[in-house]
Amino acid sequence: MTSAIPSSSTSPVGIQMTDLQRRLQTTLPDARLDISQLPGLEDISLALINADYQTGPLPGEVMHAVIANPAYWAFCWGSGLSLARWLIANPTQIASQRVLDLGPGSGVVAIAAAIAGAACVCACDNDPDAIAATEANAALNNVSIECSADLATLRPDFDLLMMADVLYDKANFGLIQIAKTISRRIIIADSRVSDVEDSDFHIIHHDTSLTLPNLGEFDEFKDVRFFEWRKTVD
Ligand SMILES: C[S@@+](CC[C@H](N)C(=O)[O-])C[C@H]1O[C@@H](n2cnc3c(N)ncnc32)[C@H](O)[C@@H]1O
Repeated sequence: MTSAIPSSSTSPVGIQMTDLQRRLQTTLPDARLDISQLPGLEDISLALINADYQTGPLPGEVMHAVIANPAYWAFCWGSGLSLARWLIANPTQIASQRVLDLGPGSGVVAIAAAIAGAACVCACDNDPDAIAATEANAALNNVSIECSADLATLRPDFDLLMMADVLYDKANFGLIQIAKTISRRIIIADSRVSDVEDSDFHIIHHDTSLTLPNLGEFDEFKDVRFFEWRKTVD
């Protein structure tokens, strides 16, 4: 189920949503944000790109803008959806813990962690628009998330660090070793890679999820794997 963002709301969430839509239209002028409910997660709503957005050949200048500043945060990626569902279904995995969502995009995993009972939820994304999206979606869902664009500003003692669909860029494999230095446990949910290239990780869960909205180009990436690492000595 989707609904349009309120166009003239002066509430704090309304102002955040209007700002978010302006950010989206900087790269995709014909797109809009809709408030969308997530399949299997009816308690969470996110501001996502409209599902009837016309894909197909984009004008050259729009294509350049998208490549320079892709609005990944305007989608709920399949791995984020799977991990969020798993957290809500398994709250004991996260209850009373200090957790980090690294690469939150829309903030779906961080929001699910907060709803599932984490003691404290942080989110870190190097895209300022994703930080704005996570903050706006957190407000929309009435949860509190500490957001930062810089990992170094967050206290490095997490019980659980999660990354969902962040390994689409080979350069991000380096984040895994950094993650090991700041958290006692890591869960990587990913539909793009079948191997995280670190033998300390083990697959703990498989799921099937499509990115939302599904604009047609993501169908091959529906098999989500959860890779887990735990620190052996503290
Ligand atoms: C494909 S999106 C996935 C978003 C969300 N986790 C989900 O599942 O819906 C990847 C996100 O990771 C962020 N990202 C990529 N490289 C990053 C880095 N080095 N540090 C922090 N965030 C990063 C991107 O900006 C984007 O928001």
